[in-house]
Amino acid sequence: MPNEADGFDLKLMRKPVIAGNWKMYKTVGDSVATAVALKPLVANANHCEVVIAPVFTALKSVADRLEGSNVHVAGQDCATEVSEGAFTGEVAAFMLADAGCSHVIVGHSERRQYFLETDPIVSKKVQAGIAAGLMVIMCVGETLDQRDQGKAQSVVSEQLVGGLSGLTASDLDRIIVAYEPVWAIGTGRTATPEQAQEMHAFIRRVFAERHSPGAADALRILYGGSVKPDNIAGLMKQADIDGALVGGASLKAESFAEIVNYNK
Ligand code: PGA
Repeated sequence: MPNEADGFDLKLMRKPVIAGNWKMYKTVGDSVATAVALKPLVANANHCEVVIAPVFTALKSVADRLEGSNVHVAGQDCATEVSEGAFTGEVAAFMLADAGCSHVIVGHSERRQYFLETDPIVSKKVQAGIAAGLMVIMCVGETLDQRDQGKAQSVVSEQLVGGLSGLTASDLDRIIVAYEPVWAIGTGRTATPEQAQEMHAFIRRVFAERHSPGAADALRILYGGSVKPDNIAGLMKQADIDGALVGGASLKAESFAEIVNYNK
């Protein structure tokens, strides 16, 4: 059995990821201005990967302005279809890559809740992202009701297994998992570092059983849900928390930079 010290040794092998999810906020002009303001504030952040996810319409302009910097750009969603076709309103993963994205977020709880995305849909999007050469940030997380009913682990495990079905061993290093308890998103109610750690360790165990212990040791698992400059350090001290997916506090360059620079 690995002991706690081993857990921290393994953590050192995983490069943390701090990702900002801008949701449906900001015009192209506002997105570019925030990205340009962020760039110098995180230029020395070599300890982690920095990612921002603007709205679709702003991706190309933001990516162009960030070219050559350490700030990566992500789409907030992608189509289930891999190739182009007659799918009004959809954007294919390869089009995100073409616009300058290196990452894509899939299966966010707002997509699951308001746009009825199921695990089979999320799974197709994961595969489309991988086929386009993107890093895929797949979100999982239980609602408050599910937690109160003692179903948090079974819900998360089902989302994890369902969303990642059909992947080959070589796909796994393109996957990042974000654990975002729905009751903590945008509510100001963060999971405690201990609650988050417990679920992250569980996710890593499920991933190890499903795929391999080696792949599980290498998997980055981000926490999301009311992450702020004043709670990031406590979360990052946990053995299985490898970064954060940040909503509200990523909209301002200064507060997002404080989160990125949690080690300062
Ligand atoms: P929040 O959002 O930080 O505003 O809670 C997180 C998310 O939805 O990714």
